[in-house]
Amino acid sequence: MADVTDLLDAGERLGAEELRALQLERLRTSLRHAYENVPFYRESFDKAGVRPEDCRTLADLAHFPFTTKADLRENYPYGLFAVPREKIRRLHASSGTTGRPTVVGYTDNDLSMWADMVARSIRAAGGRPGDVVHVAYGYGLFTGGLGAHYGAERLGCTVVPASGGMTARQVQLIQDLEPSVIMVTPSYMLTLLDEFERQGVDPRTTSLRVGVFGAEPWTEQMRREIEERFAIDAVDIYGLSEVIGPGVAQECAETKDGLHVWEDHFYPEVVDPITGEVLPEGERGELVFTSLTKEAMPIVRYRTRDLTRLLPGTARVFRRMEKITGRSDDMVILRGVNLFPTQIEEIVLRTPGVAPHFQLRLTREGRMDALTVRAEARPDAPPEVREAAARAIVAAVKDGIGVSVGVEIVEPESLERSVGKIRRIVDLRPRDAG
Ligand code: DLL
Repeated sequence: MADVTDLLDAGERLGAEELRALQLERLRTSLRHAYENVPFYRESFDKAGVRPEDCRTLADLAHFPFTTKADLRENYPYGLFAVPREKIRRLHASSGTTGRPTVVGYTDNDLSMWADMVARSIRAAGGRPGDVVHVAYGYGLFTGGLGAHYGAERLGCTVVPASGGMTARQVQLIQDLEPSVIMVTPSYMLTLLDEFERQGVDPRTTSLRVGVFGAEPWTEQMRREIEERFAIDAVDIYGLSEVIGPGVAQECAETKDGLHVWEDHFYPEVVDPITGEVLPEGERGELVFTSLTKEAMPIVRYRTRDLTRLLPGTARVFRRMEKITGRSDDMVILRGVNLFPTQIEEIVLRTPGVAPHFQLRLTREGRMDALTVRAEARPDAPPEVREAAARAIVAAVKDGIGVSVGVEIVEPESLERSVGKIRRIVDLRPRDAG
């Protein structure tokens, strides 16, 4: 691969000390902006007895109160905006499975910074100006489609705004328009894989060279599966609408060793999910973000619920976050044992005879919760291989995670396919049971 250092932007070229100085200056400005323009922050800072000027070092951020999803809901729709509504150029929203959605807003400058960060991400992933980029993240209120779109344009690419769905047409577009980069959820990439095979096209023969996958957790096993089946480099992109959208952190193609957080704009902390205490670099906990340059909706110490740890920078000056293991919301507690869907993904993907499609069914048997892993057989797997696969998964879960689960190997193509973010857990437990 060509030397990438020539391509780096000004932020990526900062030295470590320059970066810390810039962060502190931006942090102080951003805290002041939030305090002076958003009543919610004024109240929450006052209640905690802190003022923006109390932030004299980056470590002082730990004295400031957290912001949660519930705070966004309670201030729905415009309550957390720090600029007059006329200055808001775009809105996005997350659907939210319960209750009100959450709405986020962007000024012109915010949209421009976001495009810069996604352009930086695509470049880190191995995309270059002049590439054709197929965007199969959903367009609309979800930040994935439009976020990827403007970033790819900013980098100087030719964008195919395919959005999610109409899978047969996606395959056609990829063959005809010859993109070198695809941006899509990893689970929808698997749906595309099936469609390539259904149409009798070898997915290894396409023009695709790089996949920029995110919006949901995925494992190293899934990376290997996708890289081999498509003959591409698969790298991880992370983001969330409350912070900006995609392009908060990105894995570099040359190292594939976790995601560099674009911390000249988004300041990360990892905290103990229970006590809220800031954890030292290298320790696992909940990721928390503070925006450093956002105008429309500055966000202070936002609790993402995503679990990871921070590591020193490698390919870039910025710190890395390890691939997300899961969200605290997706954690299943089964007879006292904590389990994440990604742990099951690792096991299913290394089991011969099963396809990379699985679902977790939660039921209640008497007073106990039970989990059944439903995994699809590969079309060519004979009955004895399927039976062996079921036994292997039961054993691997018992040995690796320490809990007993049921396993059903189901027919090929029988599980619901993803067109965006996949839902791994199907919760069939009675609603009122505690
Ligand atoms: O999913 C933004 C995005 C779009 C990121 C496209 C990457 C690509 P939300 O809908 O607000 O925003 O969901 C944010 O998705 O808190 C994580 O739980 C999860 N998530 C996003 N990226 C990753 C990733 C977009 N790379 C929530 N790995 C986040 C694991 C991810 N989880």
